[in-house]
Amino acid sequence: MSKSKFYITTPIYYVNDKPHIGHAYTTIIADVFARFWREKFGDENVFFLTGTDEHGSKVEKSADEAGLPPKDFTDKVVKDYVEVWKLLNISNDEFIRTTDPRHEKVVQIFLQDLYDKGQIYKGTYKGLYCIECERFYTKDETNSGYCVLHPKIKLTEQEEENYFFKLRDFSQKILQALERDGYLVLPPERKNEIIGKIKQGINNISISRAAVQWGIPLPWDKSQTIYVWIDALLNYYSATKIFPDREKFWPASLHLMAKDILWFHALIWEALLLANGIELPKIVYAHGFFTIDGQKMSKSFGNAIDPKELVGEYGVDGTRYLLLTAFSFGSDGDISLSKFKEKYNADLANGIGNLVSRLAKLCENIEIQDKPRNKGFSAEIEKCFSKFKPDEAIKFIWSDIKRLDEDLASDAPWTLTNGEKGKIIPNYIERILSIASNLRPFLPETSEKIINIFSQKKISKPEPLFLRKPQ
Ligand code: MSP
Repeated sequence: MSKSKFYITTPIYYVNDKPHIGHAYTTIIADVFARFWREKFGDENVFFLTGTDEHGSKVEKSADEAGLPPKDFTDKVVKDYVEVWKLLNISNDEFIRTTDPRHEKVVQIFLQDLYDKGQIYKGTYKGLYCIECERFYTKDETNSGYCVLHPKIKLTEQEEENYFFKLRDFSQKILQALERDGYLVLPPERKNEIIGKIKQGINNISISRAAVQWGIPLPWDKSQTIYVWIDALLNYYSATKIFPDREKFWPASLHLMAKDILWFHALIWEALLLANGIELPKIVYAHGFFTIDGQKMSKSFGNAIDPKELVGEYGVDGTRYLLLTAFSFGSDGDISLSKFKEKYNADLANGIGNLVSRLAKLCENIEIQDKPRNKGFSAEIEKCFSKFKPDEAIKFIWSDIKRLDEDLASDAPWTLTNGEKGKIIPNYIERILSIASNLRPFLPETSEKIINIFSQKKISKPEPLFLRKPQ
């Protein structure tokens, strides 16, 4: 990874429905990385992109059900995304929409280049299509004709004449790049999965649709629209072309997503870039997928949780904390919402919140010479980030909080005279400021509040950072 710039992306989310906490999880993690790297490289050297995937049959169908023209429908749902990212304090530098005419133009130019290079040909496709995944499957990849990822969806057989990209021609090059870490697929077990799958053999993929109206027309055959996944993947590249001063950020440093869409990001994306002679991204990271109380989260199960609900209950930083620590980053997990309250009380209200109150109270009326200044990140935190383990970084911060709590209990400074207190308190302040600095990427508002409290000339007990919830 380049030491001087950092370009991080989230998937661009489908606008067939409003955002849920699955989308929020990936976006919060990306925000944590972006904030961490901004501290290290400076704001101008970090580019954090998120956005929305707005074309294709799935969105077209939802617009139809809502009785709106597709563009009006997407304009409406996009507002929910923009609003919820703002609410969650997501610091994306740009927000890309695939219906942005500037993006559409880049996509058309990219595909025309591929066509001119002979990488695209016309053929007939016959296969089983899942509208939720927006992709074809072979019979073997289904569960007796039902989608593995969407068990309620019976796949429909579709046959049409469309254009194909010669994906198969790139399998060897991709394998070599993967095996020599030309780009990294992380965590390592995911890389092995991808290698295994490529070795089983891959087929060329169709890159256009004759039957879908809601999409970008193919530049050389306007009767077809560009397959929504090709259009979507290209957002990572088009963003560097359409937003001012972003060209220097290509190649992307880190594409973040869950494992459900890794195949597109770890193979198809790179093959498209190779075919057009464009540098490959550095890292593709697929984190795990979480269920809610053991169930897949979806609109049809009625368990898709709106991040706004969580913010209403636990506040912005409370929500960020609870989602970030809900399960181990990189693995699959289950979230039990009933445990959130207990965790909020234990780690936030009683944990960091209580510690800050006690410490600030202790500092009231004490003269402190040479107040320590807060520093950058602890070495431990840096190490966790370099290993892509943000959840371990949080665990480290909470073990620091616990240690400081225990030291306060055993030192019992409230039994000392003011003069004696003045000697040991600077060390506590240094430690709480270090905790606050480490917290900055994760809980930005809380971190700032703590730094403010302990940087005052006269420290006084603040309002509680996190109000305790009745059980
Ligand atoms: N539009 C495509 C992505 C195109 S990117 C070029 C898409 N969109 S999506 O709205 O379905 O978002 C999928 C992504 O949302 C996952 O890869 C993951 O980042 C996030 N998640 C959605 N549900 C999630 C969980 N239950 N658990 C973890 N991540 C979740 O696919």
